[in-house]
Amino acid sequence: MAQVTFALLLILLLGAQLGAATFKICAFNIRSFGRAKAANQRVMGALVQILSRCDISAVQEVRDAKGSAIRILLWELNRYDSSHHYSHLESKRLGRGSYKEQNVFVYRTDVVSVTDWCQFGDKDAGDSQDFARGPFAARFHSPSTAIMDFVLLSHHTSPREAAHELDLLFGVCMELMQRWKTQDVMLLGDLNAAGAYIPASAWAGIRLRSHLAFHWLISDREDTTVSHRTCCAYDRIVAHGEELLNAIVPRSAKAFNFTQALGLSEEEALEVSDHYPVEVNLRLAPKAQREL
Ligand SMILES: *[C@@H]1O[C@H](CO)[C@@H](O)[C@H](O)[C@H]1NC(C)=O
Repeated sequence: MAQVTFALLLILLLGAQLGAATFKICAFNIRSFGRAKAANQRVMGALVQILSRCDISAVQEVRDAKGSAIRILLWELNRYDSSHHYSHLESKRLGRGSYKEQNVFVYRTDVVSVTDWCQFGDKDAGDSQDFARGPFAARFHSPSTAIMDFVLLSHHTSPREAAHELDLLFGVCMELMQRWKTQDVMLLGDLNAAGAYIPASAWAGIRLRSHLAFHWLISDREDTTVSHRTCCAYDRIVAHGEELLNAIVPRSAKAFNFTQALGLSEEEALEVSDHYPVEVNLRLAPKAQREL
């Protein structure tokens, strides 16, 4: 009897492990991440716990002209999770005026590599000059996932121009597909794609939304905000391409409630950010799963 119980337990444990054996991608607007936050031990403790769950994180709102905050974050992350090695790829400092922010991909170099990247918003990038902050794209090669090569497009829209920028992102996706000869593009980030920023009447004019090839994995009903007073799906993940869609674990896309997961009060959570990360899992390739 004890042996049967033990065998059952083993199966459950193995099952749980296989269940966990996926590849996680997230987008996380870490509200105004600069040196003040990098010097706050409580905030950094929460950030490394959140980011170490993911193989690739599209970190947004990095605000530090000297670039030391992101280096400290990487250093802390590598110290916290020594089972992987984390590196990062950062965008230019983006913004029209003196207010600048950066998009940064943080990724595990032992599981995934960057093969190319592209910054929109440069003079030669056509109509993408209409973005308040140019979108930032990177091409990833990931040998262990069901899809090995895919593009991530990280963008933080300007709230007041969110509807217009969302529509422009359709063109950016098309351009990326042509440039890199792939269909498999995932757009992710704080798109401000909810609430007062997108009037109900604006949705019909947003090609990214009306075109059926783009799949919005985070629904309008999701709450990606930390504050109890707001309930908005600002942060989104939008996927395009058959191979990419087939590699996505069904129903894995969600906001990660770190208030709950880390047992924080609302106030403590808001110190970390006013946004929850949005995340999605990719299946591992059969071969990689067998090797476990
Ligand atoms: C997140 O978790 C906290 C704590 O359990 C809860 O009060 C809050 O409603 C949750 N927020 C969302 C958006 O699910």
